[in-house]
Amino acid sequence: MTARFPGTDGYAAEAPHLLERYEAIPFEKAHAAMLTLIPQAPGHVLDIGAGTGRDAAYLADLGHRVTAVEPTDELRRGAQTLHPSPFIDWIADGLPFLSSIAHRRDEFDLIMITAVWMHLNESERRQAMPVVAALLKPGCPLIMSLRHGPVPDGRRMFEVGAEETTGLAAAEGLRPMMNFVSHALQDDNRRAGVTWTRLAFVKSP
Ligand SMILES: C[S@@+](CC[C@H](N)C(=O)[O-])C[C@H]1O[C@@H](n2cnc3c(N)ncnc32)[C@H](O)[C@@H]1O
Repeated sequence: MTARFPGTDGYAAEAPHLLERYEAIPFEKAHAAMLTLIPQAPGHVLDIGAGTGRDAAYLADLGHRVTAVEPTDELRRGAQTLHPSPFIDWIADGLPFLSSIAHRRDEFDLIMITAVWMHLNESERRQAMPVVAALLKPGCPLIMSLRHGPVPDGRRMFEVGAEETTGLAAAEGLRPMMNFVSHALQDDNRRAGVTWTRLAFVKSP
């Protein structure tokens, strides 16, 4: 069940609240600086830790086929109800191994791992990066975000920097394209001093 994936602590209990909270910020606002990296031609997108499906639904509406991986049963089921798109394939799986999709040999035109990576500890992050990189087509982008600041009660979260992430990515042939820090979009998080590192990489051809 949900608990077999590291990093999911706290999400099942909060799912009803999060299904409203995450949906309140539109994709264009959540990922404003990354919009130019979203492929224009219809392709296959992998959204890892897809949460309430906000991003998967937006990308499906653009014409992409989306594989949405979400380990928390309560979020995944709620997301499927909120966004019943035939272009979203929901999968109960999680980092670091993504076992149910890693063996399929699919390659993706875009991978999103937003607000997820800092839930993994260092050894899980080391295990996960090669798995993720192998799923990305050459020349295509990986978009990530890392949360900094006070950890919400009940969550498992680590302080993860851009430098470590860029190093892990470089070892897998992922070249940095964007790296900046922004304030939180949610008022309560901004007041609490939460900031985000936003990263994008492209896989070398
Ligand atoms: C802060 S939410 C982000 C949701 C969505 N990506 C977004 O940007 O709104 C973190 C999500 O990561 C998921 N998660 C936690 N541990 C994970 C893991 N090991 N593998 C994949 N997803 C995980 C949680 O269940 C939750 O849906």
